[in-house]
Amino acid sequence: MDRIRIVGGNELHGVIPISGAKNAALPLMIASLLTDDTLTLENVPHLADVEQLIRILGNHGADISVNGRRERQGESYARTVHFTSRNIVSTTAPYELVSKMRASFWVIGPLLTREGKARVSLPGGCAIGTRPVDLFIEGLAALGANIEIDGGYVNATAPAGGLIGARYVFPKVSVGATHVLMMAATLANGTTVLGNAAREPEVVDLAKCLNAMGAKISGQGTSTVTIEGVRSLSGARHRVLPDRIETGTYAMAVAMAGGDVILEDTEASLLDTALEAIRRAGAQISETNSGIRIVRNGAGIKPVDIVTDPFPGFPTDLQAQFMGLMTRSSGVSHITETIFENRFMHVQELARLGAKISLSGQTAKVEGVSRLKGAPVMATDLRASVSLVIAGLAAEGETMVSRVYHLDRGFERLEEKLTRCGAHVERVSD
Ligand code: UD1
Repeated sequence: MDRIRIVGGNELHGVIPISGAKNAALPLMIASLLTDDTLTLENVPHLADVEQLIRILGNHGADISVNGRRERQGESYARTVHFTSRNIVSTTAPYELVSKMRASFWVIGPLLTREGKARVSLPGGCAIGTRPVDLFIEGLAALGANIEIDGGYVNATAPAGGLIGARYVFPKVSVGATHVLMMAATLANGTTVLGNAAREPEVVDLAKCLNAMGAKISGQGTSTVTIEGVRSLSGARHRVLPDRIETGTYAMAVAMAGGDVILEDTEASLLDTALEAIRRAGAQISETNSGIRIVRNGAGIKPVDIVTDPFPGFPTDLQAQFMGLMTRSSGVSHITETIFENRFMHVQELARLGAKISLSGQTAKVEGVSRLKGAPVMATDLRASVSLVIAGLAAEGETMVSRVYHLDRGFERLEEKLTRCGAHVERVSD
């Protein structure tokens, strides 16, 4: 199994290209099941999760081809992928496939609304809390679906004439349930109004793509999304928006290691709250024509308190990385996680590098230390694993991160992007 070896101490200088957002690419790919026409997605990141979803969509009958590589210094970072689901050959998403990635559960929306039925295994995914699917079930039932859970599967059936538009208010903000209800409602009879909907940029991106396919969605990006059902959707061409989590991660890496880096092909407006926290920690951040410049020269890292929240709040997917940064701050910071319980598995690994962190309920108290020391550590989930890389960049000596398949799920060519900026990071294959 691959490991990542980091020798800390180098500053970062250069340019890091930001990939298309994993969390946008996944629902966009799933939306291709809504039409028998071709959906072409540009700027699709090359990640293990994307490859896994390609397998899942293929199981439902999607014909998928990849081309249009964008070359950068001889390497390709982004791909154009064509998805055509002329016929849905199976409305079952089996346990063996769904258990590998939670987002694959989301196929339930398009399958149910297009084919009138879906049988989808209850999901697996990152080990960050229980992550139930009650909101999906309640929401789809509000559109008239009959839903039963049997033998680890969700069996959903639409009424004879198809799903029926309705008003549904999410009792809790959920990105995935918003994606699914929005997709399901595009082909329902009548109008659906979703209240307390997720406002994440990836929801807006999906709505934009669905509208290009002929859907009638308005209000995306606000808490109330309205979807007027249409008879059918057509193909479209859509560019996946930049990955705000990857952007924030590299911004924190520069803030941690010091240096001067341009994050290219991204937008500051996707992560204002996180950038503000990094700025308060002592980095200078400015917008360039094509991205963001981040600089930390000499100034120490200041302690900053954060609380995770749904968008536009501080993203839970950057919480672990920010904790990594705070381990070297000049004081005490508090990091509160409100989205997922049990999302502090990186704490004990950061402690192996010398970090001083104590947990009390959903809040971590981080007492900054003047030096971290490299050690063997283990990646526990996707975002936690990259917090160890960030800490490793500033640790003395060698940090060896094992179980890097977690990193490969969400970070495209991480070691290459960091190495080009002067970091000492390499993949070691056993
Ligand atoms: C998505 C992101 C993930 C991010 C998360 C929160 C993708 C592929 N993943 O995950 O990276 O960390 O948003 O920004 O886009 N919940 C319920 N019942 C449900 C559904 C969710 O209680 O039926 C709860 C979850 O347990 C969690 C909260 O709602 O506590 C938010 O989860 P949700 O927004 O649904 O996360 P995902 O869409 O799975």
